[in-house]
Amino acid sequence: MLHRRILCRFSFRPIFIVLLALSLGGVFILKEYDDSVSVSQKYNENFKDFEAPRKPDKEEHLDVGRESKKKRENLIIVTHGRSGSTFIGNIFNHHPNVFYLFEPYQTVERLHGAVATGDRDYQGEAFEWMKGILQCDFVSTKHVQDLERYYRRRYRKNYNPIKSISLLSPPFCPYNTTHSSWSAESCPPMDKETLEATCKSKYNITVLKPLIGRMPNENVKQLLSVCDNDRINCKFLFLVRDPRGIIPSSRAFGFFKDDDDSLLGTHEWSKKICSATEINLNFFRSMSSDEKKRFMLLRYEDLAKDPLKTLPSLLKFAGLPDDKNLRKWLDLASHRPETESERKAAAWRQDSWEGAERWRWLVASDVISVIEKYCSHVMSVLGYKAVGGSHDLQKNLTVKLLEDSYEALRWF
Ligand SMILES: *[C@@H]1O[C@H](CO)[C@@H](O)[C@H](O)[C@H]1NC(C)=O
Ligand SMILES: *[C@@H]1O[C@H](CO)[C@@H](O)[C@H](O)[C@H]1NC(C)=O
Ligand SMILES: *[C@@H]1O[C@H](CO)[C@@H](O)[C@H](O)[C@H]1NC(C)=O
Repeated sequence: MLHRRILCRFSFRPIFIVLLALSLGGVFILKEYDDSVSVSQKYNENFKDFEAPRKPDKEEHLDVGRESKKKRENLIIVTHGRSGSTFIGNIFNHHPNVFYLFEPYQTVERLHGAVATGDRDYQGEAFEWMKGILQCDFVSTKHVQDLERYYRRRYRKNYNPIKSISLLSPPFCPYNTTHSSWSAESCPPMDKETLEATCKSKYNITVLKPLIGRMPNENVKQLLSVCDNDRINCKFLFLVRDPRGIIPSSRAFGFFKDDDDSLLGTHEWSKKICSATEINLNFFRSMSSDEKKRFMLLRYEDLAKDPLKTLPSLLKFAGLPDDKNLRKWLDLASHRPETESERKAAAWRQDSWEGAERWRWLVASDVISVIEKYCSHVMSVLGYKAVGGSHDLQKNLTVKLLEDSYEALRWF
């Protein structure tokens, strides 16, 4: 019933939604081999262009759920743009056990040339690249040069969340990034062999932050098939955010354009983002409790409100120990500096909760009404209270619009 309604409302790319839905469904289907052979076969059909998922043998089947030591651990942050994923990715970037890469699909995009994500060559190259990265294999010298250029050299400032700290630390640089003698200039170019050896030996988990919008066909289907490999373990952190925060921010970032009178872009983006979120949620909901262990749902606002309080659950999910320096960094990164000189020294410090709530005073209430029109159901499932056109509710910051208890919480 719900699906029908969403598909009808979703006017421009129904196929995308169906594929996204199928792919998320596939996550649990892939593990429940015996119970859902027919669905599983149907699912496999979708992958035959890439690589047929391996048939599990009996012994392996008994092993399902047990951790295999030789598998590379990966955590993949799945989200729409403008949902706080750069901030969350950067938290993992600062953990000493983590090999972090910001938006790995951008490498494919740059090497291939930007094309629609449905392009077959793009998809083939994306498959090869992701399959490599998820086991510390960096495919070719060209790929390594791209990482060199974009995640080590491009940004000269002291601080940039796009930089990968692991690529800027020993053995690639003489000093740790926190050391006063560290500089980008002191770091010679990386070579592929050292990169692969370091990824494997110094870091026991890879964390990636791919946006849904750059995935082949704009869904996680291919990524799930990449993860279905006996050398790779993947966990998925599904990050959601209040659509009233996502959509105006996407517009400000030029993800879409709006005509001030009709707000056509806002109409379409609200439909697109909220339909996709809702369908994903329904698939998470229908997973077996065992499968759900590989997934975590996180509301960006819960993190933004009190990052240090949320941190332990993120680390526990990833299988990472607490880290004192990470906590110290996070405390600074999520609070605005108090003095002007502090602010000059650390322009990257922002109040994370203020950022999450900014839409309440910056966005016109007719825009909020359009978003609520398309998103009210998914908002209520995720505990985001609608303002229903009330200017007072929207602008009065003492009114809480985030429910502590919400339906989707009970699905995990
Ligand atoms: C970098 O920091 C780690 C701990 O975070 C430490 O073990 C290591 O010795 C440091 N390396 C250098 C070159 O300072
Ligand atoms: C990585 O290594 C650390 C330190 O030895 C350990 O505490 C943690 O559980 C390991 N994590 C994973 C995901 O293997
Ligand atoms: C804002 O909301 C609070 C709590 O509902 C209320 O007590 C207060 O009067 C409101 N402030 C304004 C300026 O409307």
